[in-house]
Parts: sequence; structure tokens; C-alpha cells
Amino acid sequence: EADLESKLPLKGKKILITAGPTYEAIDPVRFIGNHSSGKMGFDIANEAANLGADVILVSGPTHLKVKNPSIEVINVVSAQEMYDACHLHFDNADAAIAAAAVADYKPKEVALQKIKKNSSEFSIELEKTKDILSSLGSIKEKQFLIGFALETENEIENAKLKIQKKNLDLIVLNSLQDKGAGFKKETNKVTFIDKDFKIEPMELKTKELVAVDILSRLILHFSK
Ligand code: CTP
Ligand code: CA
Repeated sequence: EADLESKLPLKGKKILITAGPTYEAIDPVRFIGNHSSGKMGFDIANEAANLGADVILVSGPTHLKVKNPSIEVINVVSAQEMYDACHLHFDNADAAIAAAAVADYKPKEVALQKIKKNSSEFSIELEKTKDILSSLGSIKEKQFLIGFALETENEIENAKLKIQKKNLDLIVLNSLQDKGAGFKKETNKVTFIDKDFKIEPMELKTKELVAVDILSRLILHFSK
């Protein structure tokens, strides 16, 4: 009995996870997006479910399928849809992990018809999307909140600022410096920084093993 429980250390915990890119419509056939594959978020979701958690995965457009059938998948397209889905489920969550690559800007207006190439120059006015993680950070109560940070300069300093600004418990800093890490790759080189600014650089490893590392942090938190 005790052994079974130790293998399901996240049993009874509800975890909200975001994954993938968001697509922000320009017109009926075009969008602004990014190269996120969704793999990091899906790996975290699968691993969390394997460890016994009740997982809600809010995913932007991706071809990935969840491996663990107990995961509740909510498919969304835009940042606004992801924001709405997350806020619908955050109240009941024990933790949230934001692995999605949310678009920072969206077209101010979406053209109702396909835009024709009538002029030699063309520009689109953009406005900021809502920051989902910041918003969750501002309303969180007991929830353990984990965010990601993608930086190309002043990595540690910028990641620390994100912890404070978004009221996070832990941030997973992605190093693009390393050739094996980042978008469309199977591996990631990350550094953990907690809310007390304790820094822990991790080895280059598969995203599946990064997922295991992230969830061990969560298990440690719940065991306190
Ligand atoms: N994030 C989010 N909603 C957004 C933008 C980002 O929830 N509209 C989350 C991401 O899922 C990630 C974290 O915020 O967990 C950091 O994302 P990142 O792009 O590194 O930082 P930003 O806050 O968007 O700032 P910038 O891109 O200017 O560095
Ligand atoms: Ca961003």
C-alpha cells in the first residue's frame, strides 16, 4: 500500500498545464504564430499523469497527442482562448505549469476577408496579448506556480525579474545558448530558479527527463 502511494506521489493533485504555440488571426487564412512544438508541455502532462495527478492540459495548435488517457485536453488557438481556459480551471488547481509559447502580440483588428496584395507595402498594427501567467500569479492562493523563461541575454537577471513580476514559485530558464536546446528539439538545457533566487543549472537532457525534474520539485513542495 505504502509502496503504491510512493509511486503515485501526485495522486489527488490537480495540475493545470499550458503547451504549444498560440495563433493570432490576421485574416481568415493567416495568423501570427511561432515554432513551439508543444513537446515540453505534453511531456510534463504525461509525466504528471503517470505520477497520479489529475491533469488539465490547455494546448495551442500542435500535432501531438497525449499518451496518458486520463489527461483532460482543452484545445485552444489564440492567447485569449488560452487565457479563458486557464482561468476557468485555475481556482481548483493545486499547481499550474506554463510551458506554452504564447504570442506576445496580436493584430489589433482581424480582417473579415482575405487581405489582397493591393499595395507594395503593407503593415499590421499589433497590440499586446494578455499575459496568462502574470494573471494567474496575481490571483493565486495556495497554487504552486511554475513558469518558463526564454532569454537570449542577461538570462539569470531577466528570469529573476519574471519570477517577481509574475509572482512565481519556480521558473525554468531555457538556454538557447546550447545547441541541443529549445524549439523543435528533443532536448533542453534548463536552469531552475526558485522564488528565493536559488539557482540550479541542470544538465542537457531529453524533454521527458526535464519534465521529471520539474515534477520532482513539485512533489518536494507538496511533501513540505
Ligand atoms: N506567458 C503567458 N502569457 C503570455 C506570455 C507569456 O502565460 N501572454 C508565459 C509563458 O508560458 C512562460 C512565461 O510566461 O511560462 C514567460 O514567457 P516569455 O516569453 O519567456 O516571457 P514574457 O513574459 O512574454 O516576456 P518577453 O517575451 O518579453 O521576454
Ligand atoms: Ca514572450
